[in-house]
Amino acid sequence: MSRTVVRGGLVITAAEEMHADVLIEDGRVAALAAHDSATADGWTAGADRVLDATGTYVIPGGVDAHTHLDFPFGGTASSDTFETGTRAAAWGGTTTLVDFAVQSRGQALRAGLDLWHAKSDAQCAVDYAFHMILSDVNEHSLKEMDLLVAEGVTSFKLFTAYPGVFYSDDGQILRAMQRAAGNGGLVMMHAENGPAIDVLVEQALAAGHTDPRYHGEVRHVLLEAEATHRTIQLARVAGAPLYVVHVSAEQAADEIARARHAGLNVFGETCPQYLFLSTDNLAEPDFEGAKYVCSTPLRPREHQAALWRALRTNDLQVVSTDHCPFCFRGQKELGRDDFSKIPNGMPGIENRMDLLHQAVVEGRISRRRWIEIACATPARMFGLYPKKGTIAPGSDADIVLYDPHAEQTVSARTHHMNVDYSAYEGKRLTGQVVTVLSRGEPVIDGREFTGRAGHGQYIPRGTCQYLM
Ligand code: URP
Ligand code: ZN
Ligand code: ZN
Ligand code: ZN
Repeated sequence: MSRTVVRGGLVITAAEEMHADVLIEDGRVAALAAHDSATADGWTAGADRVLDATGTYVIPGGVDAHTHLDFPFGGTASSDTFETGTRAAAWGGTTTLVDFAVQSRGQALRAGLDLWHAKSDAQCAVDYAFHMILSDVNEHSLKEMDLLVAEGVTSFKLFTAYPGVFYSDDGQILRAMQRAAGNGGLVMMHAENGPAIDVLVEQALAAGHTDPRYHGEVRHVLLEAEATHRTIQLARVAGAPLYVVHVSAEQAADEIARARHAGLNVFGETCPQYLFLSTDNLAEPDFEGAKYVCSTPLRPREHQAALWRALRTNDLQVVSTDHCPFCFRGQKELGRDDFSKIPNGMPGIENRMDLLHQAVVEGRISRRRWIEIACATPARMFGLYPKKGTIAPGSDADIVLYDPHAEQTVSARTHHMNVDYSAYEGKRLTGQVVTVLSRGEPVIDGREFTGRAGHGQYIPRGTCQYLM
């Protein structure tokens, strides 16, 4: 048996903070005990490895419940593979990610899932799981949903956006929700009115409006709010829970809050880009705005306060990245003369834990809330808890030693994501990952990568553990 002790740090979970030592046996947390207690001192004597966590936070590894690695989209594919993307995740203190396997039109769910296993098998530095994108709702794919839930792919993303690609109509969405109501699956919704947006795109281009900033204008706030409202009603009719992904508009967050206050199982996620960036970035000159093209789009700065408030009141529950990187050179440039051809998506898998810690530094959220929205709730929401998302006896020893006082400047020159720009270039942050354990193995050790492709394991998930 291998024994590691993490000694002298401040252990922070969503539930509590304590000056405790952590005993790890064979990749799992075996026990916690007060620092300097006889119990903890006894562990140190018999340990194979003692990590000195003095002056650091000892937190659960991050759980990023929304990533797109090696994702074919917008006429190209996202630039991080499972190898590069999971390595960057480790650097940023994220030890579990849930990526979106894709059902293509005319294809079975199984074929999409097999392809995602083939892309990721033996490639990952940290543990991973899959959601399934449903882009062809029919009798066969509805039946397949039951099989997937039973084998640990328990959530399904549907889109009211991207007509001709991932779009489903209201009837298809209702059918998928009814199926999920019966089999325990969780429907995840990309809520934007795609057909209406397509009309506005056509009109913008006809008027000669080709710049990236028009991406934000045509994907109107009210078309996010409307689709959020509509799909919440569909979920009510189906009797199914609903998780709305990448909420960016205050009006959409309000729809979720209203549903929750009525006691419904409606949940919402936002992403760092909506909390820290705005339409000011989309308006950057010389096509630089293309770096910030994602959907839902960045919003005017005023929306940020509403999203932070919703995170504090638990009207939004999760912050994930929607990491979907495309290089500026050669990929974002596909839309130089037409914003609608810019591949949609932004990098961020490496930055999420640090950006949210910065919000702790600035007094926007508490330390425990940081861990709740970035680790514990995503694990609960997607059936990974308490294996992931906390530090408790029996949990996987996915543990980050985090220096809350380290200063860093975010830059593409130093990041580990396979993309040629950073959305947060030059941003100064307080706090940095020092050491990361994945099932007890150091994958980052004193700011050196010590992991390997293939260490990360595929994790079949249970069903949502967050239902009211
Ligand atoms: O712009 C984005 N979000 N790209 C990834 C696909 C999606 O809709 O999540
Ligand atoms: Zn989406
Ligand atoms: Zn509320
Ligand atoms: Zn996404």
